[in-house]
Amino acid sequence: MKWAVISTWKMSTEGNAKAAELLADNVKAGDAIVEGVTLVEDNPAYSSVGYSGLPDKDGHVTLDGGYMDGDTLKVGAVGCLEGFRSPIRVARKLSENSFNNFLVGAGAEEYARLNGFEERDNMTPETFRRYLREKDKRAELKSYDGHDTVCFIGKDVYGSLCAAVSTSGLFMKEPGRVGDSPIAGAGFYADSQIGGAGVTGVGEDCIRGTVSFRVVNKMAQGRSPQQAADETMRELSERIENLRHMSIVVLNKAGEFGVATNCVFPFVYASDECEQKLYLATWENDATVIKEIRPEDTERD
Ligand code: GLY
Repeated sequence: MKWAVISTWKMSTEGNAKAAELLADNVKAGDAIVEGVTLVEDNPAYSSVGYSGLPDKDGHVTLDGGYMDGDTLKVGAVGCLEGFRSPIRVARKLSENSFNNFLVGAGAEEYARLNGFEERDNMTPETFRRYLREKDKRAELKSYDGHDTVCFIGKDVYGSLCAAVSTSGLFMKEPGRVGDSPIAGAGFYADSQIGGAGVTGVGEDCIRGTVSFRVVNKMAQGRSPQQAADETMRELSERIENLRHMSIVVLNKAGEFGVATNCVFPFVYASDECEQKLYLATWENDATVIKEIRPEDTERD
C-alpha cells in the first residue's frame, strides 16, 4: 500500500478522513495524522479528548498527548496540560527538540505559551454540568463509559510511519495523574522500518504492559499486525490480574492493520487500496473478531 491510516473509536471518523485525504495528496504522515487528531480535539461532541475533555477531581481539564516519528524515533509528549487547544501540536513540536521532549503541568504550559500555541479553556458548560452532577459520586464511577483516547497511526507515500495520541485521561482523576497516552512505548510507538501501534484504555494497565512497544516488537519478530495485537492481548490478560478495558490499533510498514480489544471497540481504517471503513472489534474465543459496520450500528463513539 502507498499510504494507510488507522484510528481509534468512531469519533475519529472525520479526522481519519482528513488524514486520508492528506496522505492521498502525498502529505507526510506526521502532518496528516496531527491534522486528524486536531479535528477530534476540537470537537466538543467527544468528551474525552481536547475541547470538552473530562476534568480531574478538582474540576480542571488537563490533557495528555504524545507523538512519535517512526523515521527518526523522535518523541514529544505533554502531560497535564491545561488551557491549550491542542496537546498533540505541542507534543509534536517538542519532538523536534534535542532535550526536554516530555513536559508536564506548568512547564508544559509555559512552553506552549512561549511557542505561541493557541490557548483555550477546554471546559464546556455541558462538561461542567456533568462534573457538578458526578463529583460526589467518584467512588461509583467506572473507568470505561464508552470511549477515551484518540490514537492515529499513519503511513505515507514516502514509507514513513508516525503515531499521534491525545486524551483528557480518566474522569475525576487525581490532579497530576498522567496515563499511558504521552508515554512512548506504552500509549504509542512507531518505527518506519517495522510498524506502529497505539492504545486506548485504562492507562495504568497500558503502562504496566508497555503495550505499544510490545506489539511493534512482535512485528519485528515476524508477526502480522493482527497476530501481534492478539498475542499482546492474550499475554496481558494472563499476566495482569483483572485487566481493565484495553484496545490496540496497529499498522505495519506495508500499511496492513491489526486490532485487539477486550471490550467493544469501533475503529476506522483507510488506505489507497481501500476507502475509509468503520469496523467493530470484539474479543471472542481468545481472539479479536472484526466486522465492518455502519455508524448507526454502534452507540459507542
Ligand atoms: N488511556 C488514557 C488514560 O488512561 O489516560
